[in-house]
Amino acid sequence: EKDMIILAIETSCDETSAAVVKNGKEILSNAISSQIELHAKFGGVVPEVASRKHVEKMNPIIDEALNAAGITFADLDAVAVTHGPGLIGALLVGLAEAKAIAFALDIPLIGVHHIEGHISANYIEHNLKPPFLCMVVSGGHTHLVEVKDYGSYNIIGRTRDDAVGEAYDKVARSIGLGYPGGPKIDVLAKTGNGGAIDFPRTYLEKGSYDFSFSGIKSAVLNYLNQMKMKDETINPSDVAASFQEAVIEVITNKTMMAAKNLNMSKIALAGGVASNSRLREEMHRKAKENGYELYYPSPIYCTDNAAMIGIAAYYDYKNGIQHDMSLNASSNIQF
Ligand code: KG4
Ligand code: ZN
Repeated sequence: EKDMIILAIETSCDETSAAVVKNGKEILSNAISSQIELHAKFGGVVPEVASRKHVEKMNPIIDEALNAAGITFADLDAVAVTHGPGLIGALLVGLAEAKAIAFALDIPLIGVHHIEGHISANYIEHNLKPPFLCMVVSGGHTHLVEVKDYGSYNIIGRTRDDAVGEAYDKVARSIGLGYPGGPKIDVLAKTGNGGAIDFPRTYLEKGSYDFSFSGIKSAVLNYLNQMKMKDETINPSDVAASFQEAVIEVITNKTMMAAKNLNMSKIALAGGVASNSRLREEMHRKAKENGYELYYPSPIYCTDNAAMIGIAAYYDYKNGIQHDMSLNASSNIQF
């Protein structure tokens, strides 16, 4: 069979990324321009600033991806792009670019759901095939997904308020760590005592696979305020470690419960928070204890990148999915 070379584009949040993916497996290049430093001074992503930076970086990043892969536009068989969910102005930059390329080269356009991309990142480095259970933990999403087949998903649980990465970032800000706080909490927690402060574990109704992280976020803020009022010194390492233990306990326990009830033998992690070292460690311990295989991507494929979009697009295309020029971006598309 003929090779299939896909150029993938991802601009849903604060990373401008383009990748060249061969046959849904081989990453020929994965160029990423991060805007983290640009947004850090605002303490979070500023949508308008993100859009403008995407416009500036889009063409250079595509050139970089093609050059690194050693190919030209003429070698492309299809172009894939994240069309949601995400920041609408940011998504539109990548979508307009992808449409222009597909139109100019007369090749298929494949719109990809961002979460499907995160899940598909697990196919890059592992010989993992559905069915499996995937815990998606990112800055915008917390979904427990039954991956029944390529392109066939059943969401069995989701957050009812904040995403887990969002909780990490907010707690980080409250103890004076910069944006994005997730990686900083990861490091700081290693020097703290996770049992120092008893933060709430929110399990919701018995048997529920849903999550809620707004309670623990408030609990951390209340704790910090009370300590300040009592003029007692706060140990940021203990706060970071205790917050993390509470969150990870709930995530890992719900994942184990779902794997058991759905009779799954394989569990995967996806999204930015999947690079968290303590989450990986606890998930490993419990997966081993219960006899499940555990998979997760390297950190570079956990956070936003275009390679994962190219992988997802390959399987979508094989399943007959292709879009025309009426494809639109959506900040909250259904999964
Ligand atoms: O998947 P992602 O790049 O973007 C979204 O689709 O949301 O995830 C970004 C999130 C941020 O909240 C960031 O703080 C978090 O992932 N994150 C981490 C770690 N690395 C990134 N959280 C905890 N520990 C980490 N090591
Ligand atoms: Zn993401």
